[in-house]
Amino acid sequence: MIKNKNCNSMDIARKYLDSLVIEGRILGSVHPSTRCSILGMEFDTPVMGAALSHLRPGMAGYAEGLKNANAFCSVGMGDNEDFAKVLETGAKVMKVIKPYADREEIFSRIRFAEEHGAAAVGIDVEHATNSEDDRDSLVAGLQMKQPTLEELKEYVKSTKLPFFFKGVMSAKDALTAKGIGAAGVILSHHNNIFRCAAPHVFLLPEIRAAVGPDFILIVDGGIEDGYDAFKALARGADLVSIGRPFMPPYEEKGPEGVSETVKEFTNELRAMMLRTGSKDLKSIDPSVVKEAYWL
Ligand SMILES: Cc1cc2nc3c(=O)[nH]c(=O)nc-3n(C[C@H](O)[C@H](O)[C@H](O)COP(=O)(O)O)c2cc1C
Repeated sequence: MIKNKNCNSMDIARKYLDSLVIEGRILGSVHPSTRCSILGMEFDTPVMGAALSHLRPGMAGYAEGLKNANAFCSVGMGDNEDFAKVLETGAKVMKVIKPYADREEIFSRIRFAEEHGAAAVGIDVEHATNSEDDRDSLVAGLQMKQPTLEELKEYVKSTKLPFFFKGVMSAKDALTAKGIGAAGVILSHHNNIFRCAAPHVFLLPEIRAAVGPDFILIVDGGIEDGYDAFKALARGADLVSIGRPFMPPYEEKGPEGVSETVKEFTNELRAMMLRTGSKDLKSIDPSVVKEAYWL
């Protein structure tokens, strides 16, 4: 028997994205701008790099590729030496820190990010446990711990950097994150660690309505092209985070492969914006996205 065969959050999200279709509004439409302003930084695209660890050929080249495409970058697990090399590229970077059981490890990594010029920090709270049970997990041999709400508040308060919680998948958690001082959240089930998840793009309008226009919502996981990115942005996301689609081009071509992938996704997004009469990201009208009940 195949357990959980219908409960893969990636498959569920894919089905939902494929069930969304777009209304065309081409008459009088103009070539769009994908410029966006996030936390006072200006980017050419809302497509950003997901937090990836253990990358070949190294995380600095990944950051360099994102910087060359003027896109936001996040980085995941890795030691401070690697992170310093990432920051030396001049990329705008969010450091996503693991929910280590050793809380001093978290505080010291937040301090390192602050002292070395990171643009933001976050914690991928969803990786404290795995899918099979509720035990605190080991990630790459390191002990994680499910943080309490008090501890999360302390992490946010410990830094001047904008703080993000990764792994939020509801309006309720997004509101809690906002309430304890986060600048935004990364909506993610972290590659199906959270099974049977209601798709982020499905939840987005409800989450956006709950948190208001200024709280940053980043969609992460299963975004496979600029058309998916358009659907997420139309339903309320500020940024769309891409991980695995960068990996083969990065291994093959280095930083240029990353830049090219950002541009490919952005070009597809632009195609969709032109066809929906969206002159810029703020002008995308959510009503152009329809849920196709027959798909
Ligand atoms: C090789 C690899 C390493 C990853 N490492 C991290 C990490 O250290 N921290 C983190 O928050 N997420 C990590 N992730 C998860 C990604 O940031 C992202 O949430 C996930 O891959 C979903 O996005 P995608 O469908 O575009 O790949 C990793 C994913 C991959 C494939």
